[in-house]
Amino acid sequence: MHLITALFSAAGLLPLALAGADVSASSNIAVYWGQNSYDQSSGPLEQQRLSYYCANSELDIIPLAFLITISNPELNFANAGNNCTAISGSNLFYCPQLEADIAECQSTYGKTILLSIGGATYSEGGFSSSSAAVTAANNIWSIFGPAGSDSSIPRPFGTSVVDGFDFDFESTVSNMPAFGNQLRSLMNADTSKTYYLSAAPQCPYPDAADGPMLDDSVSFDFVWVQFYNNYCGLQSYVEGSSTQNNFDFNTWDTWAKETSANKNVKVFLGIPANQGAAGSGYESGSTLANIITYSKTFSSFGGVMMWDMSQLWANSGFLDAVSADLGGSSSKREASKTTLRRAKRATA
Ligand SMILES: *[C@@H]1O[C@H](CO)[C@@H](O)[C@H](O)[C@H]1NC(C)=O
Repeated sequence: MHLITALFSAAGLLPLALAGADVSASSNIAVYWGQNSYDQSSGPLEQQRLSYYCANSELDIIPLAFLITISNPELNFANAGNNCTAISGSNLFYCPQLEADIAECQSTYGKTILLSIGGATYSEGGFSSSSAAVTAANNIWSIFGPAGSDSSIPRPFGTSVVDGFDFDFESTVSNMPAFGNQLRSLMNADTSKTYYLSAAPQCPYPDAADGPMLDDSVSFDFVWVQFYNNYCGLQSYVEGSSTQNNFDFNTWDTWAKETSANKNVKVFLGIPANQGAAGSGYESGSTLANIITYSKTFSSFGGVMMWDMSQLWANSGFLDAVSADLGGSSSKREASKTTLRRAKRATA
């Protein structure tokens, strides 16, 4: 009895310990949280607090959406913002639940929590100079990176520290490479943990907003391409054809290997998590499975990104399906399957 209990808890713990971003895997799942895009204001399909989703072992990476302004930083987390209180002297709020949940998601569930900067409403247009960009990056790091001794710094997540940053710019931005490079070097200088940098370009290449950063200047770990709302999206995938005409994962694979500053960058298939979740381009079932199988033939393939969490939870079975579509190729999912097999054998 004791042995079986021990095996069960080992089986329960191992997959969790193995969750989180894996730069060598092709089965990562990243899902944006923060915008309550399914737009319910009550009930179970309303966006729930972060820790509720972290308990799901299929998720690896959760970008928090969004930091909507940079120069005078301001966050927007839709209904989750109602659980935060204003920090005087700033446009930020303090979110005790997020302080607790980020720590719990990281240490209990092994999730990688990023802060996503930008979003559709971001309108600052970047920075007037590269030195202004560097100053802004230092400021963002002091607010969301490791807490220093200066208690006058507003800290929305208190003592919790994000695992990196995501750039989701949808309009033209100036001097952004200097901002990205400064954040990257601040992250690299802190060897206490691994930090990640990601970007969410739209699928037309080169990306109008993120282009200069992606063009051999900033070293990204992950780039999740939004394969929706555009001619190059999921709906253009032609089944059974090794050469795709409009669906352009191959273009992004070539970018990864030939143009990206980090030639080992992972490219994710960015998809809507529900019908209408991100405008147009939702696919499911065998069509999506085939698109994932095709995308996996590119060595840069890193997994699937979905927009967004509330839409995903309203689309029963979709996360399990995507997870199954990704299964089998990654050491992570193989390891958790092996553990389950062992546990089953032990209890048989
Ligand atoms: C807000 O706080 C309430 C009460 O603790 C909690 O039930 C709810 O999940 C929180 N909502 C979000 C979106 O974080």
